[in-house]
Amino acid sequence: MHKTVSPKILYLGTPVVLISTMNDDGSVNLAPMSSAWWLDQTGVLGLGTRGQTFANLKREHECVLNLPSVEQVAAVDRLALTTGSDPVPDYKVAMGFRHVRNKFEEAGLTASPSDLVRPPRVTQCPVQLEAMVKSIHSVGAREDYSASIEVEVVRVHIDEELLDPESRHHVSPDRWRPLIMSFLKFYGLGDQVHGSRLAEVY
Ligand SMILES: Cc1cc2nc3c(=O)[nH]c(=O)nc-3n(C[C@H](O)[C@H](O)[C@H](O)COP(=O)(O)O)c2cc1C
Repeated sequence: MHKTVSPKILYLGTPVVLISTMNDDGSVNLAPMSSAWWLDQTGVLGLGTRGQTFANLKREHECVLNLPSVEQVAAVDRLALTTGSDPVPDYKVAMGFRHVRNKFEEAGLTASPSDLVRPPRVTQCPVQLEAMVKSIHSVGAREDYSASIEVEVVRVHIDEELLDPESRHHVSPDRWRPLIMSFLKFYGLGDQVHGSRLAEVY
């Protein structure tokens, strides 16, 4: 039996991304997000337009999409109620957010230089995608303050522990344990549940 309901959010379970961007004073911002999907070398990010990350992407057109594994969950959670915006927007003050200038220090994470973009990578994240902004579109109603940002992934860094021992350009999904946000809570993935015909032909 199904029921019709009106959930406030539709976070159905997606990998968490820690997105690093440059602030206008040359410092680095780092923020968790999870509304992201991928097609070939393109990523599409769903972001609030009142955050520091959106302002930085609009101005600088560069980012690193760092994907944490379940092992970095505590670091991600430490960033949850923080923003690089100063002053903190009123609606975030009401929710208990505070401004944090050094998000790496706050999270207990460290930065590694990127190859092709200015924002650094998060050293501890097993997957690090350097990316350039291609287009920005507003999403939903005006009062949603939301945008979709299309980025092109220009360099992929993978922790070698995740690579298939036989074909070194492939990530082994048995070794990759992405951190998943589902209805605002943190989960991991379980074991493979079925054979995959698509995986066989690729
Ligand atoms: C796990 C997690 C996932 C989140 N996903 C998103 C998201 O997909 N899009 C978004 O705009 N904000 C998301 N947020 C909220 C932002 O992290 C929050 O607005 C933060 O203040 C943005 O930081 P910034 O202002 O420094 O960019 C998420 C937060 C957490 C903890």
